[in-house]
Amino acid sequence: MGSLKGGEENLETIDEEAKEAILYVNGLRRILPDGLAHMTLLEYLRDVGLTGTKLGCGEGGCGACTVMVSQFDQNIKKCVHYAVNACLAPLYSVEGMHVITVEGVGNRKRGLHPLQESLAQSHGSQCGFCTPGFIMSMYALLRSSETSPTEEEVEECLAGNLCRCTGYRPIIEAFRVFAKTDNLPYTNTSPQKVPTEGFICPSTGQPCSCKSENSAKTQHPITHSKIDGSMYTDKELIFPPELLMRKLMCLNLSGCNGIKWYRSLRLQHLLDLKSRYPEAKLVIGNTEVGIEMRLKNLQYKVLICVSHVAELNKLSTNEDGMKIGSAVRLSELAKFFKRMIKERAVHETSSCRAFVEQIKWFAGTQIKNVASVGGNICTASPISDLNPLWIAAGASFHIIDCKGNTRVVAAEKFFLGYRKVDLARDEILFSIFLPWTKPHEHVKEFKQAHRRDDDIAIVNAGMRVFLEEVDNGKWVVSDASIAYGGVAPFSLSAAAVKEFLIGKSWDDDLLKGALEALGKDVLLKDDAPGGMIEFRKSLTLSFFFKFYLWVSHQMGEKSSFQKNIPESHLSAVQPFHRPPVVGSQDFEVIKHGTSVGSPEVHLSAKLQVTGEAEYTDDTPMPAGALHAALVMSRKPHARIHSIDDSKAKSAPGFEGIFFDKDIPGGNMIGAIIADEELYAKEIVTCIGQVIGVVVADTHEHAKLAARMVNIEYEDLPAILSIADALKHNSFFTNTEKKLIKGDVDACFESGQCDRIIEGEVQVGGQEHFYLEPNSSLVWTVDCGTEVHMISSTQAPQKHQQYVSHVLGLPLSKVVCKTKRIGGGFGGKETKSAFLAAAAAVPSYLLNRPVKITLDRDVDMMITGQRHSFLGKYKVGFTNNGKVLALDLEIYNNAGNSLDLSLSVLERAMFHSDNVYDIPNVRIKGNVCFTNFPSHTAFRGFGGPQGMMITENWIHRIAMELEKCPEEIREINFQSEGSVLHYGQKLENFTLQRLWEELKSSSNLLKAREEIQQFNRCNRWKKRGIAMIPTKFGISFTTKFMNQAGALVHVYTDGTVLVTHGGVEMGQGLHTKVAQVAASSFGIPLSSVFISETSTDKVPNSSPTAASASSDFYGAAVLDACDQIKARMEPVASKKKYESFRELAKACYMERIDLSAHGFYITPDIGFDWVTGKGKPFSYFTYGAAVAEVEIDTLTGDFHTRTTDICMDLGHSINPAIDVGQIEGAFIQGLGWVALEELKWGDPAHKWISPGALYTCGPGSYKIPSLNDVPFKFSVSLLKRAPNPKAVHSSKAVGEPPFFLASAVFFAIKDAIIAAREETGHHGWFPLDNPATPERIRMACLDQFITQFVKPDFHPKLSV
Ligand SMILES: Cc1cc2nc3c(=O)[nH]c(=O)nc-3n(C[C@H](O)[C@H](O)[C@H](O)COP(=O)(O)OP(=O)(O)OC[C@H]3O[C@@H](n4cnc5c(N)ncnc54)[C@H](O)[C@@H]3O)c2cc1C
Ligand code: FES
Ligand code: FES
Repeated sequence: MGSLKGGEENLETIDEEAKEAILYVNGLRRILPDGLAHMTLLEYLRDVGLTGTKLGCGEGGCGACTVMVSQFDQNIKKCVHYAVNACLAPLYSVEGMHVITVEGVGNRKRGLHPLQESLAQSHGSQCGFCTPGFIMSMYALLRSSETSPTEEEVEECLAGNLCRCTGYRPIIEAFRVFAKTDNLPYTNTSPQKVPTEGFICPSTGQPCSCKSENSAKTQHPITHSKIDGSMYTDKELIFPPELLMRKLMCLNLSGCNGIKWYRSLRLQHLLDLKSRYPEAKLVIGNTEVGIEMRLKNLQYKVLICVSHVAELNKLSTNEDGMKIGSAVRLSELAKFFKRMIKERAVHETSSCRAFVEQIKWFAGTQIKNVASVGGNICTASPISDLNPLWIAAGASFHIIDCKGNTRVVAAEKFFLGYRKVDLARDEILFSIFLPWTKPHEHVKEFKQAHRRDDDIAIVNAGMRVFLEEVDNGKWVVSDASIAYGGVAPFSLSAAAVKEFLIGKSWDDDLLKGALEALGKDVLLKDDAPGGMIEFRKSLTLSFFFKFYLWVSHQMGEKSSFQKNIPESHLSAVQPFHRPPVVGSQDFEVIKHGTSVGSPEVHLSAKLQVTGEAEYTDDTPMPAGALHAALVMSRKPHARIHSIDDSKAKSAPGFEGIFFDKDIPGGNMIGAIIADEELYAKEIVTCIGQVIGVVVADTHEHAKLAARMVNIEYEDLPAILSIADALKHNSFFTNTEKKLIKGDVDACFESGQCDRIIEGEVQVGGQEHFYLEPNSSLVWTVDCGTEVHMISSTQAPQKHQQYVSHVLGLPLSKVVCKTKRIGGGFGGKETKSAFLAAAAAVPSYLLNRPVKITLDRDVDMMITGQRHSFLGKYKVGFTNNGKVLALDLEIYNNAGNSLDLSLSVLERAMFHSDNVYDIPNVRIKGNVCFTNFPSHTAFRGFGGPQGMMITENWIHRIAMELEKCPEEIREINFQSEGSVLHYGQKLENFTLQRLWEELKSSSNLLKAREEIQQFNRCNRWKKRGIAMIPTKFGISFTTKFMNQAGALVHVYTDGTVLVTHGGVEMGQGLHTKVAQVAASSFGIPLSSVFISETSTDKVPNSSPTAASASSDFYGAAVLDACDQIKARMEPVASKKKYESFRELAKACYMERIDLSAHGFYITPDIGFDWVTGKGKPFSYFTYGAAVAEVEIDTLTGDFHTRTTDICMDLGHSINPAIDVGQIEGAFIQGLGWVALEELKWGDPAHKWISPGALYTCGPGSYKIPSLNDVPFKFSVSLLKRAPNPKAVHSSKAVGEPPFFLASAVFFAIKDAIIAAREETGHHGWFPLDNPATPERIRMACLDQFITQFVKPDFHPKLSV
């Protein structure tokens, strides 16, 4: 033991505390009062009105809250700029720094920043909720770069930002112009002149009309600041001069509930504090402590910020290795290692290279910018990405106690148990020592997660081996260390493997023995937390096998190693490399009038890129407003015995608590039938069911009080899967449906079918993950006689109905308004209305405004998801693949109320033919009642699940007949005039043409040949390809919902205000509808304005859903415009007016009504479930996609290499918006088929509490990130295909492209087939949706798998 103890200095004088805590925000000096230590930077920013920074998740997983922090580094005498997640940054952690939010980057008054211009013009913002976060990540990259970043750096810096709408391609392209390859915006010192002819749109790659507003117009000269160390335009905020002079000081501040916040700048001060408060938590990035305090509700009273303790931030080297201060941030660590790799001999830096690679896949940039090495080590997470590497690389940890005594512990010995390390209460981690590697010493990292980017590991590992030549050509292991994460409660040092390896010769026998020894080290129990036992075990073997091959390859120059590895096995060790995304969009522009047909930019794009666009939660709280939090069931099925709310009533800020007895009107609500209770009375039927509501002065206080309500339950048996429901006959009454065509039984018995197959398809659910959580602000008017609300919903009229019902008020006295929503995808159609109703009760009874905004985890837990489905099929077909009969039973998991589940099931039944002509069909459907939150609408509304089941048996037929799946598809295609299994006749059938065009433009046949060649040469990587068609029926299948109203006012200045019943949720509805109005009046688009959706302007609207809103509201607006034009006609025909403004003025003077209500109903539709025949759809939208993927058969990792999509969208009203919908839907669909897996506490997941949702945040539920975009992503719209059934010959687009992502699923399956053939497995096998790495890996049967599982092993799935 040593000592670092200094002299007996007087701490008070050296470590003087700041007299005043300050912060600069967007150039403005702000004093931070004491008492805010509990606050995050995000809460503070939003409280002071800077609502451009959004709260998407509160756990560092979405990037919506990204801001840039700048501070002056006294050591290098420069400013450093970096992006952080404001939701995890404690407010006082940025004391003395400059925070720039999206508002500080640019706005409409001051002028947009080139980044903002570029993103807006490239169609990179749809709902806009994620947009400020993307701007800030990119802005921080530019401000922190001395030269333009590379394309890779641009894509890398966005890894921590999620977008659920765009599919990322336009975002990448908008920002790519700032990369080195294209210096346009950052090398010109004078504003650009935009070429008037031949301008190529940065988004579409086509000539387009956005040229007039091109970003170059507002670009400003770029300057380089020596102090700032970065480039910036002369319009940008500079670093505040006060902060250049002001040194950071120690802090001693407090917060709610007695929290103390200290900031130390010197080790001695820190040690002194630690001895005073042994239980104190050290905080650097707060990425662990913040999660513990906010999501796990742990209470820490004393927090010591050590980010600026000089001694803990040192990085140094000596002859033996590197010394790394424990507070060093991960982004700094990566830079340091990269420098070492450049400066030192190659053999010395094998560990450095392993760390650099591992850090690359560690969280997003914002997290890496603040998270520390020490924080990662001392958290001792069993899935820490770095701890196995520290162990393997032979690192040692230097520890210091409060008295200054030091000791050294080997990393291998440091981790003692679950989140338990060898640190006494009075000790801290001081630094880490990492030795240089020696010649022939090799260190390698491994990690497999659900998603490659920004995801915690399922299993990771660090491995090191030191080889020495003993005889000529014989190499033996002289030292080794193998460590795993994700297979034990702590980072596991594989002692048995190590013991086995040492002294052994590096050959195939060593490999065999080591794999056997691993079985002794890795002992995962069947019910181990995290599940996926077989997969995790298999990964431990795969990683070692990869390590063996990699080391052999590294030693390749020695002849004895070369013979060990066949060429094709090198595929196991080739690193994943992602080239920059290449996108292409091909469409024709067919203009109708001034605007329809133009690829106009989303009307709110400029507001969204500047953060000025307001969402519900951004609405300023009215005076006296309260926050609501829900009291929720913690049981899946139980009787409520007692409710004790006494503790809640004494909680800070408490203002009221309300249960069923308090409801002034009716308690029963529901989307179609009223089978839900607003507040459960006696029985709860799912976890998260609302039992009551608490209101308090702040959101945090309301949540605290709600948690303090004590409820006693009596457990009742719960139904927790479709299988359970089938076993117990648990179906909703009157929900069994049938569709019949021909005679299935007769066909099966007739002998016409050469083959008959039977099987099951399981299709998992999907979380909407709209970036904006549900939110409503409700207030009373006229002493409580009226109620108004602003809601984040796709169905304002549903909110109006629910609130009117629960309050007992007439509909005419309840108004719901919606300006825009941050994504909906069906999730805010019915499952947002009960929240408004829940908040309306206290608002009405207390006569005060009440706001409810759900936290991300609660939103995911209680508002329902896409339904999981089970399909049981029996299919008869001929030897050439013609399908003759289909007998299908389908079941969906509805949860605890009917909601829209029957309509979802019906649509699945309608779409169970996809595009195939089947002479004999019998489909039976049932809606299962289960004890989960009620599942609901989601883009596609059951259609994708129905088609997924179909494509599964189509694929199986191909395998049975050993034919190409496309051949089976083509032989069964429907055609013009085909009569579908529900009686509708196909008209204007464009699929055949579209299919042929795509097949040729994507070079499918050549690609398949190349894939076969690749697969022959690569044993452990396989490629696959698939081409999938889709046909999506357009209309609500419930006839009365196919109606729409609009209100159009023409003002005397020639501008037009349109209001209609549809909601803008990013899909560009308002833009398209405004284009229709502009073209109708022959005026520019800029003369038309759509302010909001409101139930008092256009009544009785249907929800904005079913893809048909542009059809509906475009037509309704057209009707209103026509009425006004007809009234104007007598005036217009008398003389030629110079402008529309003059005409409008003249009409006004003639006392002509310039306002009209337009109305539209979809003609000629209707369906009768009694006969099972009719015409449920007005028309169909067709499309097809080709996707090529590559899988790593040893780990299940995959990526999409190419995607080519062609869709028939008629004459598009706005092709840029439509392309955006296709790309966004495809990437969302890719999540559904390959990434996003909901894990519920059910019979398949016994390690999760029954009925609970485990995957309830971005940490555990992975939607696609930017890294998941296909390398090559091409979208084309079918030309010369006008649609006679919709406004301006267009077609609906929102939902139809979603299913095309199944091309990725079937391409993955194609690749797995190639892998299985390597081991002689040729037959058909089931693959559940989603095809996650676990399912991919476990389906690739090889020697590492077969020792754990039988060939028919089926990874568990919640359905
Ligand atoms: C969105 C997100 C993604 C993430 N992704 C990953 C990932 O991919 N891989 C991964 O491994 N982890 C990941 N993490 C976990 C986390 O980011 C890391 O563990 C991080 O390194 C913690 O560092 P910090 O500075 O933020 O820790 P803090 O939260 O500030 O502190 C963590 C703990 O360490 C203790 N501590 C810190 N320094 C010392 C010291 N010197 N001596 C003693 N105790 C100390 C603190 O008291 C505290 O208990 C992720 C977290 C988030 C929120
Ligand atoms: S809100 Fe901060 S990362 Fe999601
Ligand atoms: S635009 Fe990105 S989440 Fe909506």
